[in-house]
Amino acid sequence: MANQKLKVGFVGWRGMVGSVLLDRMRSEGDFDQFETVFFSTSQAGLEAPGESCEKTLWDAYDFEALKKMDIVLTCQGGDYTKKIHSDLRGNGWKGIWLDAASTLRMQENSCLVLDPLNKGLIKDEIHKGTVDFVGANCTVSLLLMALTGPLKAGLIDWVTTHTYQAASGAGAKNMKELLKQMGYLYNEGGKKELIEDSRSDILKLDELVNLDLQGKTQYPKELFGAPLAGSLIPWIDSPMENGQTREEWKAMVEANKILGLNQDENIAIDGTCVRIGAMRSHSQALTIKLKDGLDLKSFEELTANAHEWVDFVPNTKEATLEKLHPAHYSGTLKIGVGRLRPMNLGKEFVNVFTVGDQLLWGAAEPLRRFLRLYQEVTV
Ligand code: HSE
Repeated sequence: MANQKLKVGFVGWRGMVGSVLLDRMRSEGDFDQFETVFFSTSQAGLEAPGESCEKTLWDAYDFEALKKMDIVLTCQGGDYTKKIHSDLRGNGWKGIWLDAASTLRMQENSCLVLDPLNKGLIKDEIHKGTVDFVGANCTVSLLLMALTGPLKAGLIDWVTTHTYQAASGAGAKNMKELLKQMGYLYNEGGKKELIEDSRSDILKLDELVNLDLQGKTQYPKELFGAPLAGSLIPWIDSPMENGQTREEWKAMVEANKILGLNQDENIAIDGTCVRIGAMRSHSQALTIKLKDGLDLKSFEELTANAHEWVDFVPNTKEATLEKLHPAHYSGTLKIGVGRLRPMNLGKEFVNVFTVGDQLLWGAAEPLRRFLRLYQEVTV
Protein backbone atom coordinates (compact mmCIF):
# COMPACT_ATOMS: atom_id res chain seq x y z
CA MET A 1 0.00 0.00 0.00
CA ALA A 2 3.07 2.28 -0.11
CA ASN A 3 2.17 5.94 -0.75
CA GLN A 4 -1.43 5.05 -1.38
CA LYS A 5 -3.96 7.35 0.24
CA LEU A 6 -6.65 5.70 2.31
CA LYS A 7 -10.20 6.30 1.16
CA VAL A 8 -12.30 7.75 3.97
CA GLY A 9 -16.10 8.03 3.70
CA PHE A 10 -17.41 10.77 5.99
CA VAL A 11 -21.02 10.45 7.17
CA GLY A 12 -22.72 12.98 9.47
CA TRP A 13 -20.35 15.88 8.84
CA ARG A 14 -23.05 18.57 9.12
CA GLY A 15 -24.08 17.91 12.73
CA MET A 16 -22.36 19.45 15.71
CA VAL A 17 -19.63 16.84 16.26
CA GLY A 18 -19.21 16.37 12.50
CA SER A 19 -18.76 20.10 11.87
CA VAL A 20 -16.21 20.45 14.66
CA LEU A 21 -14.37 17.43 13.28
CA LEU A 22 -14.42 18.89 9.76
CA ASP A 23 -12.92 22.14 11.09
CA ARG A 24 -10.21 20.34 12.98
CA MET A 25 -9.36 18.18 9.95
CA ARG A 26 -9.12 21.32 7.83
CA SER A 27 -6.81 23.06 10.30
CA GLU A 28 -4.55 20.03 10.63
CA GLY A 29 -4.33 19.43 6.88
CA ASP A 30 -5.86 15.96 7.27
CA PHE A 31 -7.69 16.15 3.96
CA ASP A 32 -4.34 16.20 2.11
CA GLN A 33 -3.53 12.86 3.69
CA PHE A 34 -6.68 10.98 2.71
CA GLU A 35 -9.02 10.64 -0.23
CA THR A 36 -12.27 11.74 1.34
CA VAL A 37 -15.75 11.03 0.02
CA PHE A 38 -18.65 12.86 1.68
CA PHE A 39 -21.82 10.86 2.19
CA SER A 40 -25.31 12.12 2.98
CA THR A 41 -28.42 10.42 4.32
CA SER A 42 -30.70 12.96 2.63
CA GLN A 43 -28.87 14.92 -0.07
CA ALA A 44 -27.01 12.39 -2.23
CA GLY A 45 -26.16 13.86 -5.61
CA LEU A 46 -25.81 17.44 -4.39
CA GLU A 47 -22.48 19.23 -4.51
CA ALA A 48 -19.86 17.97 -2.06
CA PRO A 49 -17.59 20.21 0.05
CA GLY A 50 -14.30 21.37 -1.51
CA GLU A 51 -12.28 18.72 0.37
CA SER A 52 -14.15 15.89 -1.31
CA CYS A 53 -12.39 13.86 -3.99
CA GLU A 54 -15.80 13.40 -5.60
CA LYS A 55 -17.88 16.27 -7.01
CA THR A 56 -21.12 15.12 -5.39
CA LEU A 57 -22.36 13.68 -2.13
CA TRP A 58 -22.72 9.91 -2.13
CA ASP A 59 -25.69 8.08 -0.66
CA ALA A 60 -25.01 7.03 2.95
CA TYR A 61 -27.41 4.08 2.57
CA ASP A 62 -25.71 2.71 -0.56
CA PHE A 63 -23.75 -0.38 0.52
CA GLU A 64 -21.82 -0.62 -2.73
CA ALA A 65 -20.61 2.97 -2.31
CA LEU A 66 -19.72 2.45 1.35
CA LYS A 67 -17.88 -0.77 0.51
CA LYS A 68 -15.44 1.19 -1.66
CA MET A 69 -14.12 2.93 1.48
CA ASP A 70 -11.09 1.83 3.53
CA ILE A 71 -12.60 3.73 6.46
CA VAL A 72 -16.15 4.85 7.16
CA LEU A 73 -16.09 7.70 9.65
CA THR A 74 -19.52 8.45 11.09
CA CYS A 75 -20.82 11.21 13.33
CA GLN A 76 -24.35 10.55 12.09
CA GLY A 77 -25.52 9.10 15.40
CA GLY A 78 -26.53 5.77 16.87
CA ASP A 79 -29.59 5.20 14.69
CA TYR A 80 -27.46 5.25 11.55
CA THR A 81 -24.95 2.87 13.11
CA LYS A 82 -27.74 0.47 14.12
CA LYS A 83 -29.25 0.62 10.66
CA ILE A 84 -26.08 0.23 8.59
CA HIS A 85 -23.17 -1.29 10.48
CA SER A 86 -24.11 -4.94 10.80
CA ASP A 87 -25.62 -5.16 7.30
CA LEU A 88 -22.50 -3.57 5.84
CA ARG A 89 -20.38 -6.16 7.66
CA GLY A 90 -22.85 -8.83 6.52
CA ASN A 91 -22.20 -7.63 2.97
CA GLY A 92 -18.57 -8.64 3.43
CA TRP A 93 -17.04 -5.21 4.02
CA LYS A 94 -13.87 -5.51 6.11
CA GLY A 95 -12.89 -1.85 6.27
CA ILE A 96 -12.52 0.30 9.37
CA TRP A 97 -15.71 1.64 10.96
CA LEU A 98 -14.87 4.73 13.03
CA ASP A 99 -17.80 6.01 15.04
CA ALA A 100 -18.67 8.82 17.43
CA ALA A 101 -21.90 7.16 18.63
CA SER A 102 -22.17 4.87 21.64
CA THR A 103 -23.83 1.91 19.87
CA LEU A 104 -20.71 -0.25 19.41
CA ARG A 105 -18.65 1.01 22.33
CA MET A 106 -19.12 -1.89 24.70
CA GLN A 107 -19.15 -4.64 22.08
CA GLU A 108 -16.42 -7.14 22.82
CA ASN A 109 -14.64 -6.70 19.50
CA SER A 110 -14.61 -2.89 19.36
CA CYS A 111 -11.80 -0.62 20.50
CA LEU A 112 -12.29 2.78 22.16
CA VAL A 113 -9.92 5.46 20.89
CA LEU A 114 -8.20 8.03 23.08
CA ASP A 115 -4.59 7.83 22.00
CA PRO A 116 -2.92 9.98 24.69
CA LEU A 117 -4.13 7.23 27.05
CA ASN A 118 -4.21 4.10 24.92
CA LYS A 119 -2.08 4.50 21.80
CA GLY A 120 -0.37 1.15 22.46
CA LEU A 121 -3.69 -0.64 22.83
CA ILE A 122 -5.08 0.95 19.65
CA LYS A 123 -1.99 -0.13 17.70
CA ASP A 124 -2.27 -3.66 19.07
CA GLU A 125 -5.93 -3.78 18.04
CA ILE A 126 -5.09 -2.57 14.53
CA HIS A 127 -2.43 -5.27 14.22
CA LYS A 128 -4.87 -7.87 15.57
CA GLY A 129 -7.32 -6.99 12.81
CA THR A 130 -9.93 -5.16 14.88
CA VAL A 131 -12.15 -3.20 12.51
CA ASP A 132 -14.58 -1.27 14.74
CA PHE A 133 -13.14 1.79 16.50
CA VAL A 134 -15.26 4.16 18.57
CA GLY A 135 -14.79 7.49 20.34
CA ALA A 136 -15.72 7.30 24.02
CA ASN A 137 -18.35 9.28 25.91
CA CYS A 138 -17.34 12.92 26.28
CA THR A 139 -17.11 13.04 30.08
CA VAL A 140 -15.09 9.82 30.10
CA SER A 141 -12.54 11.11 27.59
CA LEU A 142 -12.27 14.45 29.39
CA LEU A 143 -11.84 12.76 32.77
CA LEU A 144 -9.09 10.50 31.49
CA MET A 145 -7.34 13.37 29.71
CA ALA A 146 -7.30 15.27 33.01
CA LEU A 147 -5.92 12.34 35.03
CA THR A 148 -3.56 10.80 32.46
CA GLY A 149 -0.47 11.15 34.67
CA PRO A 150 -1.73 9.47 37.85
CA LEU A 151 -3.69 6.90 35.83
CA LYS A 152 -0.66 5.83 33.82
CA ALA A 153 1.37 5.67 37.03
CA GLY A 154 -1.25 3.27 38.44
CA LEU A 155 -1.87 5.44 41.50
CA ILE A 156 -5.66 5.65 41.46
CA ASP A 157 -7.87 3.30 43.42
CA TRP A 158 -11.23 4.92 42.66
CA VAL A 159 -12.77 8.20 41.52
CA THR A 160 -16.05 9.90 42.27
CA THR A 161 -16.96 12.34 39.54
CA HIS A 162 -19.85 14.73 39.77
CA THR A 163 -20.33 16.35 36.40
CA TYR A 164 -21.48 19.78 35.27
CA GLN A 165 -22.42 19.06 31.66
CA ALA A 166 -23.07 21.76 29.11
CA ALA A 167 -26.18 22.05 26.94
CA SER A 168 -24.12 21.13 23.85
CA GLY A 169 -24.02 17.52 25.06
CA ALA A 170 -27.77 17.35 24.51
CA GLY A 171 -27.52 18.72 20.95
CA ALA A 172 -27.70 21.92 18.92
CA LYS A 173 -31.43 22.44 19.47
CA ASN A 174 -30.98 22.19 23.22
CA MET A 175 -28.26 24.85 23.14
CA LYS A 176 -30.81 27.13 21.50
CA GLU A 177 -33.43 26.22 24.07
CA LEU A 178 -31.04 27.17 26.87
CA LEU A 179 -30.54 30.59 25.27
CA LYS A 180 -34.29 30.99 24.86
CA GLN A 181 -34.74 30.18 28.54
CA MET A 182 -32.14 32.81 29.45
CA GLY A 183 -33.87 35.36 27.26
CA TYR A 184 -37.25 34.52 28.75
CA LEU A 185 -36.02 34.94 32.31
CA TYR A 186 -34.74 38.42 31.51
CA ASN A 187 -37.24 39.79 29.07
CA GLU A 188 -40.69 38.42 29.82
CA GLY A 189 -43.32 39.14 32.42
CA GLY A 190 -42.11 42.64 33.32
CA LYS A 191 -38.85 41.37 34.80
CA LYS A 192 -36.59 43.43 32.57
CA GLU A 193 -37.73 46.68 34.19
CA LEU A 194 -37.27 45.23 37.66
CA ILE A 195 -33.80 43.93 36.83
CA GLU A 196 -32.70 47.28 35.44
CA ASP A 197 -34.13 49.22 38.40
CA SER A 198 -31.49 49.09 41.15
CA ARG A 199 -34.15 49.92 43.78
CA SER A 200 -36.65 47.24 42.78
CA ASP A 201 -37.76 44.55 45.22
CA ILE A 202 -35.61 41.43 44.75
CA LEU A 203 -38.27 39.18 46.30
CA LYS A 204 -40.80 40.38 43.73
CA LEU A 205 -38.30 39.61 40.96
CA ASP A 206 -37.49 36.21 42.45
CA GLU A 207 -41.20 35.43 42.64
CA LEU A 208 -41.62 36.22 38.93
CA VAL A 209 -38.61 34.08 38.01
CA ASN A 210 -40.05 31.23 40.07
CA LEU A 211 -43.27 31.40 38.08
CA ASP A 212 -41.15 30.74 34.97
CA LEU A 213 -39.11 27.97 36.55
CA GLN A 214 -42.16 26.31 38.04
CA GLY A 215 -43.93 26.05 34.70
CA LYS A 216 -46.58 28.73 35.26
CA THR A 217 -45.57 30.83 32.24
CA GLN A 218 -44.45 30.17 28.66
CA TYR A 219 -40.79 29.70 29.73
CA PRO A 220 -39.62 27.19 27.09
CA LYS A 221 -38.48 23.75 28.26
CA GLU A 222 -39.87 21.30 25.71
CA LEU A 223 -36.48 19.77 24.90
CA PHE A 224 -34.86 19.59 28.32
CA GLY A 225 -38.16 18.75 30.00
CA ALA A 226 -37.17 20.89 33.00
CA PRO A 227 -35.75 24.37 33.60
CA LEU A 228 -32.02 24.62 32.92
CA ALA A 229 -31.33 28.39 32.84
CA GLY A 230 -31.80 29.42 36.47
CA SER A 231 -31.78 25.80 37.58
CA LEU A 232 -30.12 22.43 36.81
CA ILE A 233 -31.05 18.86 35.86
CA PRO A 234 -29.42 15.95 37.73
CA TRP A 235 -30.31 13.39 35.05
CA ILE A 236 -28.62 12.65 31.71
CA ASP A 237 -29.67 9.81 29.38
CA SER A 238 -31.84 6.80 30.21
CA PRO A 239 -32.26 4.90 33.50
CA MET A 240 -30.24 1.77 34.32
CA GLU A 241 -31.59 -0.94 36.60
CA ASN A 242 -29.14 -0.13 39.40
CA GLY A 243 -30.39 3.45 39.76
CA GLN A 244 -27.59 5.04 37.76
CA THR A 245 -28.31 6.95 34.59
CA ARG A 246 -26.69 5.55 31.45
CA GLU A 247 -24.34 8.55 31.38
CA GLU A 248 -23.18 7.64 34.90
CA TRP A 249 -22.82 3.96 33.97
CA LYS A 250 -20.63 4.79 30.98
CA ALA A 251 -17.92 6.38 33.14
CA MET A 252 -16.55 3.20 34.69
CA VAL A 253 -17.11 0.70 31.87
CA GLU A 254 -15.74 2.93 29.13
CA ALA A 255 -12.80 4.27 31.15
CA ASN A 256 -11.61 0.77 32.03
CA LYS A 257 -12.04 -0.38 28.44
CA ILE A 258 -9.94 2.55 27.20
CA LEU A 259 -7.26 1.75 29.77
CA GLY A 260 -7.35 -1.93 28.80
CA LEU A 261 -7.86 -2.99 32.43
CA ASN A 262 -9.42 -6.36 33.12
CA GLN A 263 -12.03 -6.92 35.81
CA ASP A 264 -9.54 -7.53 38.66
CA GLU A 265 -7.70 -4.32 37.84
CA ASN A 266 -10.79 -2.14 37.28
CA ILE A 267 -10.74 1.39 38.64
CA ALA A 268 -14.10 2.11 40.27
CA ILE A 269 -15.68 5.32 38.95
CA ASP A 270 -19.09 6.64 39.91
CA GLY A 271 -20.94 9.86 40.60
CA THR A 272 -23.90 12.00 39.59
CA CYS A 273 -24.13 13.45 36.08
CA VAL A 274 -25.76 16.86 36.05
CA ARG A 275 -26.81 19.11 33.17
CA ILE A 276 -26.10 22.77 33.89
CA GLY A 277 -26.55 25.99 31.93
CA ALA A 278 -23.09 26.07 30.34
CA MET A 279 -22.99 26.21 26.55
CA ARG A 280 -20.23 23.97 25.30
CA SER A 281 -17.66 22.68 27.79
CA HIS A 282 -18.17 20.03 30.45
CA SER A 283 -16.75 20.24 33.97
CA GLN A 284 -16.26 17.58 36.62
CA ALA A 285 -15.62 17.73 40.37
CA LEU A 286 -13.49 14.76 41.37
CA THR A 287 -12.79 12.98 44.61
CA ILE A 288 -9.83 10.73 43.95
CA LYS A 289 -8.84 7.87 46.24
CA LEU A 290 -5.17 7.06 45.79
CA LYS A 291 -3.87 3.54 46.34
CA ASP A 292 -1.31 4.86 48.82
CA GLY A 293 -0.89 8.26 50.35
CA LEU A 294 1.11 10.50 48.00
CA ASP A 295 2.40 13.97 48.59
CA LEU A 296 0.36 16.53 46.74
CA LYS A 297 3.38 18.02 44.98
CA SER A 298 4.17 14.70 43.26
CA PHE A 299 0.51 14.28 42.29
CA GLU A 300 0.49 17.79 40.84
CA GLU A 301 3.67 17.19 38.84
CA LEU A 302 2.40 13.91 37.44
CA THR A 303 -0.93 15.50 36.49
CA ALA A 304 0.41 18.76 35.08
CA ASN A 305 3.20 17.18 33.01
CA ALA A 306 1.25 14.23 31.61
CA HIS A 307 0.81 15.72 28.13
CA GLU A 308 0.74 18.99 26.25
CA TRP A 309 -3.01 19.49 26.66
CA VAL A 310 -3.18 19.69 30.45
CA ASP A 311 -3.49 23.29 31.59
CA PHE A 312 -2.73 23.13 35.28
CA VAL A 313 -4.47 25.90 37.24
CA PRO A 314 -3.05 26.71 40.69
CA ASN A 315 -5.53 26.44 43.54
CA THR A 316 -5.98 30.18 44.05
CA LYS A 317 -9.05 32.32 43.65
CA GLU A 318 -7.38 34.53 41.01
CA ALA A 319 -6.24 31.65 38.79
CA THR A 320 -9.55 29.80 39.19
CA LEU A 321 -11.66 32.81 38.26
CA GLU A 322 -9.35 33.62 35.38
CA LYS A 323 -9.37 30.16 33.83
CA LEU A 324 -11.06 27.21 35.48
CA HIS A 325 -14.48 27.44 33.90
CA PRO A 326 -16.27 26.30 30.72
CA ALA A 327 -16.07 29.70 29.03
CA HIS A 328 -12.27 29.67 29.10
CA TYR A 329 -11.79 26.26 27.52
CA SER A 330 -14.57 26.24 24.91
CA GLY A 331 -13.07 26.02 21.44
CA THR A 332 -9.66 24.93 22.74
CA LEU A 333 -7.93 21.58 23.09
CA LYS A 334 -6.69 22.40 26.58
CA ILE A 335 -7.98 20.48 29.57
CA GLY A 336 -8.13 22.71 32.64
CA VAL A 337 -7.14 20.90 35.85
CA GLY A 338 -7.29 22.80 39.12
CA ARG A 339 -8.65 23.05 42.68
CA LEU A 340 -6.08 20.40 43.56
CA ARG A 341 -6.01 20.06 47.34
CA PRO A 342 -5.94 17.46 50.10
CA MET A 343 -9.30 16.50 51.58
CA ASN A 344 -10.53 16.15 55.15
CA LEU A 345 -11.43 12.55 54.32
CA GLY A 346 -7.89 11.23 54.83
CA LYS A 347 -4.39 11.37 53.33
CA GLU A 348 -5.24 9.18 50.35
CA PHE A 349 -7.94 11.55 49.10
CA VAL A 350 -7.41 14.34 46.58
CA ASN A 351 -9.85 16.95 45.31
CA VAL A 352 -9.66 18.08 41.65
CA PHE A 353 -11.88 20.14 39.34
CA THR A 354 -11.49 19.74 35.60
CA VAL A 355 -12.95 21.40 32.48
CA GLY A 356 -12.73 20.57 28.78
CA ASP A 357 -14.47 21.17 25.47
CA GLN A 358 -16.85 18.25 25.04
CA LEU A 359 -16.88 18.62 21.25
CA LEU A 360 -13.08 18.58 20.86
CA TRP A 361 -11.30 16.10 23.17
CA GLY A 362 -14.76 14.94 24.23
CA ALA A 363 -15.76 13.88 20.69
CA ALA A 364 -14.00 14.99 17.49
CA GLU A 365 -10.30 15.02 18.38
CA PRO A 366 -9.83 11.33 19.29
CA LEU A 367 -11.45 10.39 15.96
CA ARG A 368 -9.27 12.57 13.74
CA ARG A 369 -6.17 11.44 15.62
CA PHE A 370 -7.19 7.81 15.08
CA LEU A 371 -7.26 8.44 11.31
CA ARG A 372 -3.66 9.67 11.44
CA LEU A 373 -2.58 6.83 13.71
CA TYR A 374 -4.21 4.22 11.50
CA GLN A 375 -2.51 5.71 8.46
CA GLU A 376 0.85 5.74 10.28
CA VAL A 377 0.49 2.09 11.32
CA THR A 378 -0.80 0.64 8.06
CA VAL A 379 0.28 2.70 5.05
N1 HSE B 1 -23.70 12.37 26.61
C1 HSE B 1 -23.07 13.65 26.62
C2 HSE B 1 -23.99 14.68 27.22
C3 HSE B 1 -22.65 14.08 25.25
O1 HSE B 1 -25.19 14.44 27.26
O2 HSE B 1 -23.51 15.70 27.66
C4 HSE B 1 -21.23 13.78 24.95
O3 HSE B 1 -21.02 12.41 24.67
